[in-house]
Amino acid sequence: MLEEIKQISLNVKEELTKINTLSELEGFRNKFLVKKGAIQKLFEQLKTVSADKKPIIGKELNSLSKFAEQQYNILKTKLENSKSATQSLDITLPGRHQYCGTYHPVRQVVEDIVAIFKSMGFDVAEGPQIEDSFHNFDALNFQADHPARDMQDTFFVKSNQNDNDILLRTHTSPVQIRVMQAQKPPIRCIMPGRVYRNEAINSRSLAEFHQVEGLYINKNVTFAELKATMIVFAKKMYGEDSKFRFRPSFFPFTEPSAEFDISCYLCKGHGCKICKNTGWLEIAGCGMVHPNVLKAGGIDVEKYMGYAFGFGIERVALLKTGIDDIRYLYENDVRMLKQF
Ligand code: DAH
Repeated sequence: MLEEIKQISLNVKEELTKINTLSELEGFRNKFLVKKGAIQKLFEQLKTVSADKKPIIGKELNSLSKFAEQQYNILKTKLENSKSATQSLDITLPGRHQYCGTYHPVRQVVEDIVAIFKSMGFDVAEGPQIEDSFHNFDALNFQADHPARDMQDTFFVKSNQNDNDILLRTHTSPVQIRVMQAQKPPIRCIMPGRVYRNEAINSRSLAEFHQVEGLYINKNVTFAELKATMIVFAKKMYGEDSKFRFRPSFFPFTEPSAEFDISCYLCKGHGCKICKNTGWLEIAGCGMVHPNVLKAGGIDVEKYMGYAFGFGIERVALLKTGIDDIRYLYENDVRMLKQF
């Protein structure tokens, strides 16, 4: 019978090396450890063994039974632990995406515009959003009865009986005056910033938006230089094959004045809703700085002259992104913002 015990013991050892899963372990248990299993059968046989051999055989059988039981328990804990480890780590799951913040389209456009003008030698300046009527209107040659001074168009913060009221600036042009007061020519500067107008909100206009102002003051500045600057800028911004045009216009602070248009990005100039069927979109106002404005800024008009321009940034952002309603820019819907 000792032979048989030895054989079963070898079987047990061999089977143990093959076990990799809990179900294989269960197979091992059914084969050796249950009531009708191989080891229990040996215990049955032990009853028939003569009394003198019983102690030796019994000892061998006990140690086999103990060994098989022990190994079973060790493997069971090991396999169960590794099972819970693999369950909590499902490598087939898609990874967790780390969302990275992006610049808002308006911010991106400001950065692009600033970078292009910097490459042409322009500095950057800023001015206050809460302005006085001197810088916002008087110094820019607005007549006392100009409609822009009306409550309908301007948010007034504090009225001083028309003597230098405090208001939210309606454009970035007052920064021109502040730059002229602070610097000596030659001046070559762009001035981005937020502006406010008491306007009804719709797909094309908001009460709070952004502009970039430009100013160049030097000796012998010409309108041709202004045109060249605008065209170089627009080609860099919109691509070499975009089309542009200048139209005569009027602003109190420039003379002569022009409106700068770009061919409509949507219909490629054929006419659509966005461009009101004209094929063109206005993107900037510009002109030669009016002598009264230079004087208000403390510039010697006998020596110096200059050009100025002003872009609406949201308009440029719409053109760049193809968004057709300005309000989308400020709803801050993450699904929209993530696209840029
Ligand atoms: N300030 C003007 C506006 O808000 C835009 C503008 C037009 C600015 C002509 C300029 C300019 O500097 O020369 O509509």
